[in-house]
Amino acid sequence: MIIEPRMRGFICLTAHPKGCEQNVKNQIDYVKSKGKINGAKRVLVIGASTGFGLASRISSAFGCDAATIGVFFEKPASEGKTASPGWYNSAAFENEANKAGLYAKSINGDAFSKEVKQQAIDLIKNDLGQVDLVIYSLASPVRMHPDTGVLHRSTLKPIGTTFTNKTVDFHTGNVTQVSIEPANQEDIDNTVVVMGGEDWSMWMNDLKDASLLAPGATTIAYSYIGPSVTEAVYRKGTIGRAKDHLEATAFTITDDLKELGGKAYVSVNKALVTQASSAIPVIPLYISLLYKIMKAQGIHEGCIEQIQRLYSERLYTGKEVSTDENGRIRIDDWEMRKDVQEQVSNLWDKATTESLVEIGDLAGYKQDFLNLFGFGFNGVDYLADTNEMVNVSSIK
Ligand code: NAI
Ligand code: NA
Repeated sequence: MIIEPRMRGFICLTAHPKGCEQNVKNQIDYVKSKGKINGAKRVLVIGASTGFGLASRISSAFGCDAATIGVFFEKPASEGKTASPGWYNSAAFENEANKAGLYAKSINGDAFSKEVKQQAIDLIKNDLGQVDLVIYSLASPVRMHPDTGVLHRSTLKPIGTTFTNKTVDFHTGNVTQVSIEPANQEDIDNTVVVMGGEDWSMWMNDLKDASLLAPGATTIAYSYIGPSVTEAVYRKGTIGRAKDHLEATAFTITDDLKELGGKAYVSVNKALVTQASSAIPVIPLYISLLYKIMKAQGIHEGCIEQIQRLYSERLYTGKEVSTDENGRIRIDDWEMRKDVQEQVSNLWDKATTESLVEIGDLAGYKQDFLNLFGFGFNGVDYLADTNEMVNVSSIK
């Protein structure tokens, strides 16, 4: 069939298999162009199908020649209905990995569940023996707690007072004021249950108890800080509480890994267009201004550039990993540069529906958003009849 983007609010209901494949190939080419990295060889990526997790899997495989196991929650295609983009991404990744002689298998299911953890344990035991690196890159609005069966929902709300600021509908370019009522304690607790560190530590405990962590094993989860304009709704809001919890969890996991000589890190990454971030109010306006400035300065990066740099200039330099005063790896350093933030802040005050076309990079935002679903890539014939059914035997 001919596959076109069908937008519904913050998501696109369709995905293009050839475009997703092109996206993965472009990321692989980028990593290869930067040369080999002396990194971990057996890697488990939880949240491996899109965004930072996919970029991590690609950086490990094609930068470090690693065997990778990916865990994700995606929808396969059915007759006449496309798969979710992460499914096509993973299929393309596995094909490319296989061609390159790299081990790659995936588990498609709920990473929060005991069943999927057990599947991963069995797969590691049978195929890899142990892992040296565990990337934790889940972004989910819900989590079914494995012990209680309760379904927790995360929220994106300020804490304490109502937050009012500008936001943009990136489809139309309309800049409006948005007001978000403050969270109650239940919202805060639920968001911490979904996006905090509990599940990360459950994974690490299970892997350790099954003796699947190699000596010196490392684990990394991703966090965000960002500017003052988004602080009330992000870092000091409900999601920020979850990130505080995630960051604190790195220290308890590191304690648990002491006898193995292992370590848990949080890496603070740059704001980027992903399925997760486009749903957060105010962030798309900030990103469109940030992109404009960072592109003008030649320091713009996407997920793959971020993670390739995380590996080559932070984790695997042969020297000690440098962290900030809170023990976090900072790869958001260019985003948070004083001159960049000052310029964004100036533009923020000026941003209106009329001015954004000039002062913001709305076109870049939209392009990245389409790209998430495999649309808008050079080299893909979008008018061609395309088979939505893609089969890959290594995705369970
Ligand atoms: P994303 O939406 O692109 O990726 C989420 C991944 O989690 C996908 O692979 C998805 O299949 C998987 N997933 C979701 N629910 C699952 C479940 N129940 N079971 C198994 N897999 C599941 O998100 P993105 O943006 O790459 O986020 C990853 C991490 O990076 C998050 O912790 C996020 O907060 C963080 N981050 C994101 C930034 C951004 O601007 N996008 C900036 C800094 C950090
Ligand atoms: Na991810």
